[in-house]
Amino acid sequence: MASIVITGSASGIGASTAAMLRAAGYEVVGVDIAGAEVCADLSTPAGRAAAIDGALTRCGGRIDALVLCAGLGATHAPEKIASVNYFGVSELLDGFKDALEQGAMKSAVVVASVAATHGDWEGSPLREAFLAGDEEKARALCAASGHGAAAYAASKHAVVCDVRRRAAAWGARGVRLNAVAPGAVETPLLQQSIADPVVGKATAAFIPPLGRRAVPAEIAQVIGFLLSDAASYVHGSLLVVDGGIDALARPCRF
Ligand code: NAI
Repeated sequence: MASIVITGSASGIGASTAAMLRAAGYEVVGVDIAGAEVCADLSTPAGRAAAIDGALTRCGGRIDALVLCAGLGATHAPEKIASVNYFGVSELLDGFKDALEQGAMKSAVVVASVAATHGDWEGSPLREAFLAGDEEKARALCAASGHGAAAYAASKHAVVCDVRRRAAAWGARGVRLNAVAPGAVETPLLQQSIADPVVGKATAAFIPPLGRRAVPAEIAQVIGFLLSDAASYVHGSLLVVDGGIDALARPCRF
């Protein structure tokens, strides 16, 4: 039976993806802070090492596919957002790369956000800190930015850059790597944003062009497609699944 490792498996999009893949007959090894097969805190280097080690042990060193979904919304401490949303992805991609090459599906998906496409990060010291793997500096710059919204957008932008810059090396090893960018999805993370005194009103009021928010299964299905052979030539892509938010915001930039 194929083994698929999913971070953030205890809630929201990750839980929906895990349920969908289990129903399809896959063995899912969930990684989360609690309520998962492997419990680990992705906000710390030690927690990330434990996550990689725990999942590899359960899968016997061979992983068929990987979904990196764990993340913190803009309502959390900016420096923690930096650690979970960027380093909780980048270090796990490094840690699982060899095991994925041994697997049958050879496919990984990172859950980013449509927020990754917002703003101009060209020459940004924060983006440089992320991409240089300098966690201390990225955390300090995020902490200085105040509210978590900037850290959230920067971490999601950087994580898409990190996916795309791996395209050559991973492609050469036959492992496909893609990102999805959801917009507004009905999960606990979104509810926390709606309750936030700074971004809550705007989050609650905004309705995507399709006239509603997504449910987690609508993102899970796209993740399932990207993992599958139906997407056998999709690699290094950012697939926006946002009900039209990005098209509304930037119709002539893509
Ligand atoms: P959620 O809050 O329902 O699930 C996130 C999961 O990540 C939780 O199970 C949580 O325990 C886990 N997690 C958080 N910090 C962790 C840590 N330090 N160590 C281990 N696990 C940790 O949120 P949702 O909405 O399902 O989010 C999943 C992904 O989708 C996130 O990366 C988020 O940024 C992204 N996303 C969500 C959107 C939304 O509107 N819900 C929109 C765009 C992107």
